[in-house]
Amino acid sequence: MKLFHIFALAPLFLTGTSGTTHSPSALTDREAIIDTLLAFTQSLDDKNETLLRTVTTTNIIFDGTLFADIGLGGREPVVGQDALVPSLLGVLTMPTSHHLSNFRVQLLDAAHADHANLTAYVLAHHHKLLEEPRENLRNLYVMANRYQASMVRDKGKWKLEWLKLLPVWQSGNRAVMGWGV
Ligand SMILES: *[C@@H]1O[C@H](CO)[C@@H](O)[C@H](O)[C@H]1NC(C)=O
Ligand SMILES: *[C@@H]1O[C@H](CO)[C@@H](O)[C@H](O)[C@H]1NC(C)=O
Repeated sequence: MKLFHIFALAPLFLTGTSGTTHSPSALTDREAIIDTLLAFTQSLDDKNETLLRTVTTTNIIFDGTLFADIGLGGREPVVGQDALVPSLLGVLTMPTSHHLSNFRVQLLDAAHADHANLTAYVLAHHHKLLEEPRENLRNLYVMANRYQASMVRDKGKWKLEWLKLLPVWQSGNRAVMGWGV
């Protein structure tokens, strides 16, 4: 009798599981805004130009001026996808992993309902096999940065329109960045 009950309920459990599957449109604005920032850093880790273009506006302003000495930006902010995409993917050719946390999302007032600001911490690991053995710490460059960003909702999708990187601390061998050592 007990077994019968378990089998009889099984379809209910299955229905319940599929019923809780979220479609992207079910994300709250806050979740979708954070997801866009996660997708941005994923595009850098995956070296995926399509994804990088998908999550940024064509006229994005990227302010990496505080990182100009390692090639992550120029002395002036980089304006527009066509300048930014080759510049970022051209520098970040080594394996990277970006780890994000401490998200603070600010949805702007009704008059700017399609705009939002957010900040997050980004721990960026860069690895390049410059010296044996692989464990040599000179193969690693780590940065803790704060990202300051503005997003705009474009045809239902949140996209980065402005991004500024603020350095918190750095550790490791700058030669891993392959730039201005
Ligand atoms: C790059 O990103 C796009 C958009 O998300 C995705 O469709 C594609 O599969 C990705 N390509 C690779 C090689 O991961
Ligand atoms: C949102 O960020 C922009 C910078 O892109 C800034 O000018 C604006 O004042 C911020 N808005 C609020 C409400 O903090």
